Amino acid sequence: MKFTPVLFLISLLMPGSAYAERTIKFDTPPASLKKWYKPSNKRQVWLHTMFRLRREMQAINEYANENNKPAMEKWIKRLEEDYNKIAEMVPEWKKEIKPRLLPELKIFAKKGDTLRLARTLEMIQQTCDDCHQRYQLVVTAIYRSPNYKDIKIKNINGSLHDFKDNMNALSISVNQILIALDDEKKSTALQAQQNLYTQLQALGNSCKNCHKKDTYPKERILGKTMLKNMELLKTRIKKGRVKGSQKLLGKIGVTVCARCHNIHRIVSDLRNTLQSHNNQ
Ligand code: HEC
Ligand code: HEC
Ligand code: HEC
Repeated sequence: MKFTPVLFLISLLMPGSAYAERTIKFDTPPASLKKWYKPSNKRQVWLHTMFRLRREMQAINEYANENNKPAMEKWIKRLEEDYNKIAEMVPEWKKEIKPRLLPELKIFAKKGDTLRLARTLEMIQQTCDDCHQRYQLVVTAIYRSPNYKDIKIKNINGSLHDFKDNMNALSISVNQILIALDDEKKSTALQAQQNLYTQLQALGNSCKNCHKKDTYPKERILGKTMLKNMELLKTRIKKGRVKGSQKLLGKIGVTVCARCHNIHRIVSDLRNTLQSHNNQ
C-alpha cells in the first residue's frame, strides 16, 4: 500500500495501453537562472525571493480583509520590489510578469476599493501560477535536487570510482550471490557476499558528503540492521540454506537498496532525464 502514490502517478502518466504515445513537454528555464542557485551563488536566492512573494501576497490579502491601509502599503511596497526582481534576475522572464499591476494595487488600497484590490491580486496571482505551471517542476529538479556526479567511492580494490560505478557493482554482487545460490556454488556466493559487504561499507562513507554530521540517515539504511542481516546472510550461505539466503537477500534489497532509492534515486533520475533532454 505504501507505494500507491507512485503507482498512481505512473498510471496518470501512462493512461491506457503501454503503447499510447503521449508526450509531456517541459519548457527549459533560461540559463541566467543558474546564477541564483548554489553552487553559482552562496544562497538559493531565487527560491528565497519566491518564499517572500508568497508571504507578501498573504499579508496583503489578510490586511485587505481588515482594511488596514498602512499595513497594506508596507507589504505592497515589498511585493513590488520582489516582483520586479523576477525580471531583474532573469531578464528572459520579463514578459512573464505584469509590473503595472503594482501601482494599481497601491491606488486601490489607498482608496479602500476592496473589490478591485482583490481582483488585481488575483491577476498578479495568475502570473505566478502561469509561470509555475510551465517551469517550477523542472527548475526544482535541475537546481535543487541532490547531485551524485562528483562523489567518489572506493571500489573493492581500494581505488576510487564514481557513485554510479558503485551502484552497478552493488547490483552485480547481488546477482552473483543469487546466481551462485541457484547453482549451489557456495564459495562463489561467499566471495560475492564479501564484495557486497565491502561495497556497502564504502557507500556508507559517502553519506557524509551531504548529510554532514547527521549520522541518523546512514544508521537508518546502512546501520546496525544492515550489518546484522549481512552477517546472517553469510551464516546461511555457509550452512547451504539456499531458500533462507534468497529470502534474506530480498529483505536487504528492500530495506537497503529500495529504501534508499525511494528517497534519492527517483529525483536523481528525473533530473538526469530532464538535463539530457535540455542539454544543460
Ligand atoms: C544513497 C542510497 C543508495 C543505496 C543504499 C543504494 N542506492 Fe542504488 N542508486 C542511488 C542513487 C542516488 C542512484 C542514481 C545515481 C545517479 O543517477 O547518479 C542509484 C542508482 C542505482 C542503479 C542505476 C545505476 C546506473 O547506471 O544508472 C543501480 C543498478 C543501483 N542503484 C543498484 C543498487 C543496489 C543493488 C543497491 C543495494 C545493494 C543500491 N543501489 C543501494 C542510491 C542508493
Ligand atoms: C517567471 C516565473 C515565475 C513567476 C512570475 C513567479 N514564480 Fe514562483 N517560482 C518560479 C520557479 C521557477 C519556482 C521553482 C523554484 C525552486 O523550486 O527552486 C518557483 C517557486 C515558488 C515557490 C516555492 C514553492 C515551494 O514550496 O517549493 C513559491 C512560494 C512561489 N514560487 C511563489 C510565487 C508567487 C507568490 C509569485 C507571484 C507573486 C511567483 N512565485 C511568481 C517561477 C516564478
Ligand atoms: C548528494 C547528496 C546526498 C547523498 C550523497 C546522500 N543523501 Fe540522503 N538525502 C539527501 C537529501 C537532500 C535528503 C532530503 C533532505 C534531508 O533529509 O536532509 C536525504 C534524505 C535521506 C534520508 C531521509 C531523511 C532522514 O534523515 O531519515 C535518509 C534515510 C538518507 N538520506 C540516507 C542516506 C544514506 C544512507 C546515504 C549514503 C549511503 C545518503 N543518504 C547519501 C541527499 C543525499
